[in-house]
Amino acid sequence: MGAQVDVGNESTSRVAAGATDHDGRSGHLALENVTKRFSDFVAVENLDLAIRSGEFISLLGPSGCGKTTTLRMLGGFEEPTSGRILLDGVEITGLPPYRRDINTVFQSYALFPHLDVWENIAYGLKRKKIASSEINTRAGEVVELVGLSQFTKRKPRELSGGQQQRVALARALVNRPKVLLLDEPLSALDVKLRKQMQLELKRIQRDVGVSFVFVTHDQEEAMTMSDRVAVMSKGRLEQVGSPQEIYSRPETEFVATFLGAANLLRGTFISSSAEFWKVKLANSSEILVPATGKRDGVEVIFGVRPEKISISKPGERRLADTTNRIAGRVSQAVFFGVASQYQVVLTDGTEVSVYQQNFADGVSHVAGEEVELCWQADAAFTL
Ligand SMILES: Nc1ncnc2c1ncn2[C@@H]1O[C@H](COP(=O)(O)OP(=O)(O)O)[C@@H](O)[C@H]1O
Ligand SMILES: [Mg+2]
Repeated sequence: MGAQVDVGNESTSRVAAGATDHDGRSGHLALENVTKRFSDFVAVENLDLAIRSGEFISLLGPSGCGKTTTLRMLGGFEEPTSGRILLDGVEITGLPPYRRDINTVFQSYALFPHLDVWENIAYGLKRKKIASSEINTRAGEVVELVGLSQFTKRKPRELSGGQQQRVALARALVNRPKVLLLDEPLSALDVKLRKQMQLELKRIQRDVGVSFVFVTHDQEEAMTMSDRVAVMSKGRLEQVGSPQEIYSRPETEFVATFLGAANLLRGTFISSSAEFWKVKLANSSEILVPATGKRDGVEVIFGVRPEKISISKPGERRLADTTNRIAGRVSQAVFFGVASQYQVVLTDGTEVSVYQQNFADGVSHVAGEEVELCWQADAAFTL
């Protein structure tokens, strides 16, 4: 891989506990209790995040939550107000960008307009006085990797947005960094090209095995591409996990709702078993929710995604012990073709959203109909 970062003697401290991920593995690139203030505004607060070697991780959150600031601190373009950043166990907090083994693909691509594709890609290596034979080998590799072999003689203005994107990517990868940072790199592309580039970027990341830290505000994009997603809100890290984990087991209300539609319901704790808690809803039905370690007071908040709930005529189904069943009345039914969406009002007035695929022999329901909603106890998540 690329040249080692020369950090001198001052910063050889090892990764501390805060930078250890939940598997106990120490981070390859770690943020340790990092805070960034702009005068008295806190943009990033006490961020602990351990990025693993070779993973594709996304920083996901709404605009203004601190994603770019976090990325700029990793890249060395912004200095943390407090906290540390470590690469392979070595502190890099105060180092300028060019002394970190980390490259950034900027949203604007920042290509040189007067240089052709090949020259744009080779530029950085030439400046580093790398031998021309090696430049040719390395530039040739990345040109191939990003699929630009046919376009090496073109100027940036003669390329489509997607092709310019590939040049920017190649220009960063040619340095063989340990980590590549990408700040909303696909946001300028139209939807179709964007979907194509998502798969392409993921393929390239797998081929080169470099860790990618990818910033996006689009939850679908983050889930499609990432090994893990770090969800941020208001400068804080809400949850880190695989797309499946954060979607199926969100730990906060913010994560639950940011990642897609979720019915959030409240109930009163009655009893617990190893796996489940029994909870009483406002309409008096008793249901089971996954047990979690934490419970303060008797109120339990849990969520069920609309597609995990099945809707049927009352009493029609035979159910397993761990299937919840509640009664309601359809208030709205919308047919989409592949699916139908129902709003169902429970007897206490709570509204629940249900998403049902339309099977060949599927029954549809109409507004006003009495129905039964069922879901597997472990398909819900407890907050
Ligand atoms: N240089 C700066 N000076 C003052 N405030 C800033 C600066 N950079 C970012 N911020 C503020 O910090 C917050 C987080 O910004 P940013 O990291 O760009 O968010 P995101 O990339 O998630 O949209 C925003 O409220 C933004 O206005
Ligand atoms: Mg941003």
